[in-house]
Amino acid sequence: MAAAKEAAGPSSGRAVLVTGGAGYIGSHAVLQLLTAGFRVVVVDSLANSSEIALRRVRALAGDHARNLVFHKVDIREKDGLEKVFASARFDAVIHFAGLKAVGESVQKPLLYYDHNVVGTINLLEIMAAHGCKKLVFSSSAAVYGSPKNSPCTEDFPLIPHNPYGRTKLMAEEICRDIYHSDPEWSIILLRYFNPVGAHPSGYVGEDPCGTPNNLMPFVQQIAVGRRPSLTIFGNNYATKDGTGVRDYIHVVDLAEGHLFALRKLFESSSNIGCEAYNLGTGKGTSVLEIVNAFEKASGKKIPLVMGQRRPGDAEILFSSPAKAERELHWKAKYGITEMCRDLWNWASKHPYGYAASESPKLNGSSR
Ligand code: UD1
Repeated sequence: MAAAKEAAGPSSGRAVLVTGGAGYIGSHAVLQLLTAGFRVVVVDSLANSSEIALRRVRALAGDHARNLVFHKVDIREKDGLEKVFASARFDAVIHFAGLKAVGESVQKPLLYYDHNVVGTINLLEIMAAHGCKKLVFSSSAAVYGSPKNSPCTEDFPLIPHNPYGRTKLMAEEICRDIYHSDPEWSIILLRYFNPVGAHPSGYVGEDPCGTPNNLMPFVQQIAVGRRPSLTIFGNNYATKDGTGVRDYIHVVDLAEGHLFALRKLFESSSNIGCEAYNLGTGKGTSVLEIVNAFEKASGKKIPLVMGQRRPGDAEILFSSPAKAERELHWKAKYGITEMCRDLWNWASKHPYGYAASESPKLNGSSR
C-alpha cells in the first residue's frame, strides 16, 4: 500500500463518502483510502455485496480501521442518504454504487435506470445541498460500445449498446451538465476496462451473486469445481487466436486510480471541470491468453467448449490509458500473471465467496 500513501499526498484526515464501498472495486478502494489516511464513510445497500468484505477491510487496515464508518443505505432512499450527509462533512465522494450485469439490464431496464441514474441524481442533489462538489464517478468502457478500433481514447464516440452502458453514459452526461450549470463542481469520470484479481492477501475479492456475467469470475468457479466448463464466445474473430481481445486490469491498480483521481481533485489549484479518464493497461489480451495464464497460476485445467459469439460483443477493445498517465499520473503496474495469481489466491481460500467462508484470522484476531 506504499503507493497508495504516496498517491494520496497531503490528504490525511480528509473525509470521503464512498457509495457502494462494500462491493468488489469499492472494498479495494476503501482499504487503500484508509491506508492513505483518509476518513471513510461507506454507504451500501448490501443488495449485491457483503458486509463481510468491510470486516476484512477493517482487519487489513489495522489501526486505520477506526477511520471507517458504515451505513446500510440504498442511494435511492433520499432520506437515508440525507441523514448520512447530516452526520458528517465530506470533502469528496466516490460513487461506485450501482448495478452492473449487462444481461440483467436488458431484461430489467427500469431497475437499472432506477439504481444507476435515479440513485446518482439523488446523490448529486444531496451533495449540492451540502456544498460537497468534488466527485469521482465509477463509469465503464461500456459507454464506448464496440469501437471500430483500439486503443480507445476518451474522445471516441459514446455509443453504448445495452441499458447498463446507457445508464453509465446518462450519469456521465448528468455530471457534465451539473458542472456546466455550476463550475464549482469538480468531477472525474473513470471508465473502467475489465477488472480482474483480488487483494494480494486473498481476503478481499469478487463475490458475484448467482451466475457470473464476466469471464474471470466464471473461470474461477470452474477451477474450484463449481462449474464444468467454459464456453468461449466465438473463436473466429480477426484476432491473434480467434478469441475476443480485452484490456484486463488488476483490481488493486483500478482501485488506486481512484486515489490518484482524488489527489487531482484536491490538489488542482484551478477547477478541473468534468473530465473522463480510461483506467486500463493499454494492452489487449485474448480469452485464450488469460485462461492459459490462469491455468498456470492455479495449476487447474479449465475445460473449454467453443461456442457462438455473444451478441453485442466487441471483437477487440482495449484502452489508451495515456490521458490518465499524463493528467492523473496514474499507471497500472500489474499484468495478467499477477491478476491470475491473486484471483486464484482469493478463489482457493473462498471457493463459495464470503458468506460460506469462515472468519479469517488476520493479525492474530478474527474480526
Ligand atoms: C462485459 C459487458 C460490458 C461491461 C463489462 C463489465 C457484454 C456484451 N459486455 O464486457 O458492457 O462493461 O462486462 O465488466 O456483456 N467470454 C467468453 N465466455 C464467457 C464469458 C466471456 O468467451 O463465459 C469472453 C467475451 O466474449 C469477451 C471476454 O471473454 O471476449 C470478456 O468478457 P466479459 O468478462 O463478459 O467482459 P466484456 O465482454 O468486455
